[in-house]
Amino acid sequence: MSARASSTRRFSFAAGHRYWVDAWSAAENERVFGRLTVPHGHNYTLEVTVHGRIDEATGMVIDLGELKRVVGETVVERFDHADLNADPLFRGRVPTTENLAVSIWDLLEPKLGADRLRRVRLWEDPTLYVDYHGG
Ligand code: NI
Repeated sequence: MSARASSTRRFSFAAGHRYWVDAWSAAENERVFGRLTVPHGHNYTLEVTVHGRIDEATGMVIDLGELKRVVGETVVERFDHADLNADPLFRGRVPTTENLAVSIWDLLEPKLGADRLRRVRLWEDPTLYVDYHGG
């Protein structure tokens, strides 16, 4: 039985958003979210971790080229230079770092497999990140 390991690849994308709940008044949104109600952007850093057995032939947990392609096509192309509030994923859902991490997991899980995808870590800026492990 060969060893198991976790491999992480890092990606970056820039996106804009604002925090706003349509069902609330402007005053309520401002009370809860403050300046986050104003449209602004972030340079996000995304770390995707996959886990599994190290293949004896390739020496890898996953083809890291495949991981780069899948995350690039599924996540980076979708969100880079996008207005997150305009994405159907955030219709009626505030595009917080938490919600974005969950959405990224949900986009990647069918492509990478629930058994392989281990963690999505999304940095909104160098001081704040969210981890999501599914479920
Ligand atoms: Ni923000």
